[in-house]
Amino acid sequence: MHPGEPRLDVARVRGQFPGLSDGFVHTDAPGGTLLPESVVHAVSSAMRVPVANRGGVFPSSSRTEALVAGARSAVADLVGGVPTGVVLGPNMTTLTYAVARALARTWRLGDEIVVSRLDHDANIRPWLQAAATRGATVRWAEVDIETGELPAWQYDELITPRTRLVAVTAASNAIGTRPDVAAIAARAHAVGALVYVDAVQAAPHVFLDRAALGADFLVVSAYTWCGPHVGALVADPGLLAELDPDRLLPAPDRVPDRFEAGTPPFELYAGVTAAVDHLAGLCEESAGSRRERLRDAMAAVAAYESSLFEWLDQALRAMRHVQVVGFPEHTTPTLSFTVPGMRPRQVAAELSRRGICAWDGDFYARELFDALGVNELGGAVRLGLAHYNTAEEVGYVIDSVAALRGALL
Ligand SMILES: Cc1ncc(COP(=O)(O)O)c(C=O)c1O
Repeated sequence: MHPGEPRLDVARVRGQFPGLSDGFVHTDAPGGTLLPESVVHAVSSAMRVPVANRGGVFPSSSRTEALVAGARSAVADLVGGVPTGVVLGPNMTTLTYAVARALARTWRLGDEIVVSRLDHDANIRPWLQAAATRGATVRWAEVDIETGELPAWQYDELITPRTRLVAVTAASNAIGTRPDVAAIAARAHAVGALVYVDAVQAAPHVFLDRAALGADFLVVSAYTWCGPHVGALVADPGLLAELDPDRLLPAPDRVPDRFEAGTPPFELYAGVTAAVDHLAGLCEESAGSRRERLRDAMAAVAAYESSLFEWLDQALRAMRHVQVVGFPEHTTPTLSFTVPGMRPRQVAAELSRRGICAWDGDFYARELFDALGVNELGGAVRLGLAHYNTAEEVGYVIDSVAALRGALL
């Protein structure tokens, strides 16, 4: 961090999270972050007044329209989109299934799609299942098993004139790897293929720019960035208009509503807006539009988190009883590790006994952990940082992982 660069006042930030008062060290952020008071307040306030369905001519219905518009505009600011290109839904998985089904209607026998072994299953299985319905060929981008990287160069061979879709993650939920999505997207666009980017794990840590990434579709889940359990898909409204999603006959056919099946949790949309506002407000000295403040805030978040993460990562790699999975160069502050001789569940239970929240398992990165041989060991333990974690907490986590050695003797 250089003088003059936006800074994160972590003590101030922590005061905004009532959940931190449980006394635990929350290193489970990739599975869902804690909620700031502003988000809790926004949702409860939305529930204190009448909230009707959309489309009515009375005030409580207009209020709901405002909740929807607010959340769309907030997500657009978060990732660099326009509100009319923001589809809200229950989660990333459901949205991806909806788009996969709609896109598959445009595929023909012999068309090809490319998925990656690095991805969460939610950006693999819906595509495989959609491809199977059309007789499309699936090609796999492989992970370098030494480093956990997803080399962009392999897409030169994987992408052909028959490629219709490339699905890739902006950050691995298991080992943090951040592939060069822009380079992959450029290769896909050269043959006219669409690019579907899973930004569920990138959004909490980096300033996203959908256009710069080359993402025709970009998906996020608010619960990884201090929001409620709501997902969002962002695309060009023109592209959304071309597709034919499953929808009910009387349901609106306009974009983006045509992708939003059924009655959603409108109250939670207030929390989505508040979560984006929380992120945009992380740097007190920052000014300008919400998008501009997000740029500063995410730069400060990235600088802060990466200094803590580097320490955590290096300390764990130096422990002889610990094996950190992969060694990617560009990462989010997320890692997975194993302790040979202990099941991941045992490790997580021991950390929990010490007051540390850490996930164990395969985190739905099934293909990745199969490729790396981690599933043979029962998966791994995952530690992921958020902007509310402190150096003191990281030090405590390092000491606690070091102390696992005692359990092995
Ligand atoms: C990288 C990544 N993609 C997709 C998902 C699935 O998201 P959702 O739970 O919103 O369906 C997750 C969930 O953890 C994830 O980490």
